[in-house]
Amino acid sequence: ELVELIGTSAQASEFINPQLPAALKNPKIGIICGSGLGGLVHTLEAEPQVSIPYSDIPHFPQSSVVGHASKLVFGLLGASKTPVVVMVGRAHFYEGHSIEKSTFPVRVMKLLGIESIIVTNAAGGLNPEFRVGDIMILNDHINFPGLAGNHPLRGPNEERFGTRFPALSDAYDLEFRRTAHLAYKKLESASTHRTLHEGVYVFVSGPTFETRAECRMLRMMGADVVGMSTVPEICVARHAGVRVLAMSLVTNCAVLEPGPRGDSLLVEEVQGGDLNKVIEVGKANHEEVLEAGNEAAKDMQALVRQFVDDISKK
Ligand code: 6GU
Repeated sequence: ELVELIGTSAQASEFINPQLPAALKNPKIGIICGSGLGGLVHTLEAEPQVSIPYSDIPHFPQSSVVGHASKLVFGLLGASKTPVVVMVGRAHFYEGHSIEKSTFPVRVMKLLGIESIIVTNAAGGLNPEFRVGDIMILNDHINFPGLAGNHPLRGPNEERFGTRFPALSDAYDLEFRRTAHLAYKKLESASTHRTLHEGVYVFVSGPTFETRAECRMLRMMGADVVGMSTVPEICVARHAGVRVLAMSLVTNCAVLEPGPRGDSLLVEEVQGGDLNKVIEVGKANHEEVLEAGNEAAKDMQALVRQFVDDISKK
């Protein structure tokens, strides 16, 4: 299947390229917007701009998740007017795509000329110091499905993109992380309202949110946030030598405390506690994920924009 994807990614890029005016050809940076974070496209220069629905692009995976539009937008970002390609919405593994199909757009953007990628997502906080609305720059990841055999680079290696055994120890570009921290400091309204952390993202396949026991396990493994995207895209980007900045918006805090069990059920009831409340507290849902996204999205957008301006000066 992988061999087939290489030919098809060229077909996709050859479909897109002729639609781009000279100013938007060879975008420098690809940007993948997570749940509720697609508002970034409204901060692009109005002209020139080219928007292409995923459904028009040969072989491009579709997303059907509420809160995820599905289009590729080419435009100029920031005072630096940097040419970028923005993915508003992404296809997830849990939607039924194979893990390599879900990363197909990264290869297409590579063929279009990107040198760097900014990947954003909504994630659940596992680190008890993280608050809803905080932002975390990824400095590492745990690829849970990947370690268990579901990896986007499994199969014959395509030398045109990269080597057989790519290292991921330097996946999260140090200079990009430093630039992002400094950029955030310049955004006073954002940096006074929410903390910018660094940490480890663990990728799980979903679509269920984690149980309490799973959250404790993931925390014990060293993860700070948990989510259902990003890591496969980063593996494919690094394989192709694309530099990476990745950020999570903490949209909810995962519950680490055990729920009431048989023995404690009885104790609670005898003491007149409201068990339904105990069970409801901290229950994750997609609505709260989108809500936290709305509020914090503007700060995240401002950070991406400032980062692009600062990095394009280097
Ligand atoms: Cl709590 N878990 C996962 N897997 N993905 C999420 C999330 C939680 N919150 C937002 N996205």
